[in-house]
Amino acid sequence: MTGPIRIGIAGAGFAARFHINGIRRVYGIPFTVTGVTSHTQESRRKFAQEFGVKAFDSLEELCDASDVIDVCTPGSSHETVAVESLKRGKHVIIEKPFTGYYGPPDKDGAAFRGNTFPKEIMLKEAMASCRRILDEASSSGKLIGYAEDWVYAPSVQKEREILEKSGGQILWLIGDESHSGSHSPYYGIWKFSGGGSIVGKACHPLSTALYLKAVEGKAREGMPIRPATVSARTHEITRLKTFRDEGIIRTGYDDIEDYGQIHITFEDGTVADIFACELVMGGVHNWLEVFANNHRTRCNLNPIDALTTFNPKEEFFKDVYVTEKISTKQGWSHPAPDEAWQHGYPQEFQDFLEAFRDNREPLASGVLAADSIAVLYSAYLSAERRGQEVEIPRA
Ligand SMILES: NC(=O)c1ccc[n+]([C@@H]2O[C@H](COP(=O)([O-])OP(=O)(O)OC[C@H]3O[C@@H](n4cnc5c(N)ncnc54)[C@H](O)[C@@H]3O)[C@@H](O)[C@H]2O)c1
Repeated sequence: MTGPIRIGIAGAGFAARFHINGIRRVYGIPFTVTGVTSHTQESRRKFAQEFGVKAFDSLEELCDASDVIDVCTPGSSHETVAVESLKRGKHVIIEKPFTGYYGPPDKDGAAFRGNTFPKEIMLKEAMASCRRILDEASSSGKLIGYAEDWVYAPSVQKEREILEKSGGQILWLIGDESHSGSHSPYYGIWKFSGGGSIVGKACHPLSTALYLKAVEGKAREGMPIRPATVSARTHEITRLKTFRDEGIIRTGYDDIEDYGQIHITFEDGTVADIFACELVMGGVHNWLEVFANNHRTRCNLNPIDALTTFNPKEEFFKDVYVTEKISTKQGWSHPAPDEAWQHGYPQEFQDFLEAFRDNREPLASGVLAADSIAVLYSAYLSAERRGQEVEIPRA
């Protein structure tokens, strides 16, 4: 690639905003953000004006002006946008979930309910979708950056260093991403989101657990340690007849679960337990703990206690950002000094642009993305069988 790397953004919502802010913190590599495209003229124009970039009416025009397409659209369109961009010779960055199952394409789609639809079909189709994206990348000779920011979080990268330098063996991982419910109108409807807490939230600690076991394997034996089996349960707690709504956590999900737990066994027999739900107040609850044979690490992504503040009156902090999804700023809190950095957002774009420049795989690659989808949809199959162990397919 000669000249500055030209980046085009598909999608003009929440993720597109933290992506452009992350991209603009990349250093040492010449780049330019060419512009944005989205579903509605209004959203792309608003985004373009806010960030001083050009609004493109179609993905084709955005591709013509770009070397990289950053896919920040809902999961249901990830495959279409990514494959089209790869076909046009562009590298792609793809948000989570990499891809998934969003219902039958034809008239039967109208009656589709994700929570009751057969999960064996979902798993097969989600894996076929992964394969189509990976195949397109390999035939076009272009790279995929999987925008799994947890992999790039400073706490996770420190644990990578510990594993690589100490030769530790991870025996058990436990992690969680939970909060009080997504803001996106697409979330809660399976045909747009591809699932609930499992696909939308467990994906983060899960991909990080897969990444660290791969790091461990490569450091000691030169080969990643891959996931082998999964057992899982899902629940719809806010739709229980017994649920008593106090109006603090989000409700009104259509056909997704709002609680999920996944137990994974790896090829070497070691294990991980991943939790995710929409039932947690007090801000996002993102953490991963590593129990190894020679050390123990807790990666706190959010909240972290770099700063502890007491605010006696809500109104004093009305213009102060504290942390993601905190519902009150009154009392003791942990305002994030740099939340994007602690979540790994600028670092992921640094790695992606260096990878595109140097023509190498990013740390969070298409293989990690496809392995994650294999575990997540195998987890749905297991949950349908009320926790029965399921073998994880390879993309
Ligand atoms: N990594 C994270 O922490 C994180 C956080 C939030 C969202 N996400 C992911 O980011 C993606 C987008 O989520 P969001 O919260 O920004 O949603 P959003 O609803 O805020 O925005 C979606 C945008 O995509 C546009 N869009 C929809 N279909 C399109 C298409 N086919 N082509 C072009 N534009 C299209 C819409 O017009 C809208 O601008 C999802 O995959 C979501 O899972 C990741």
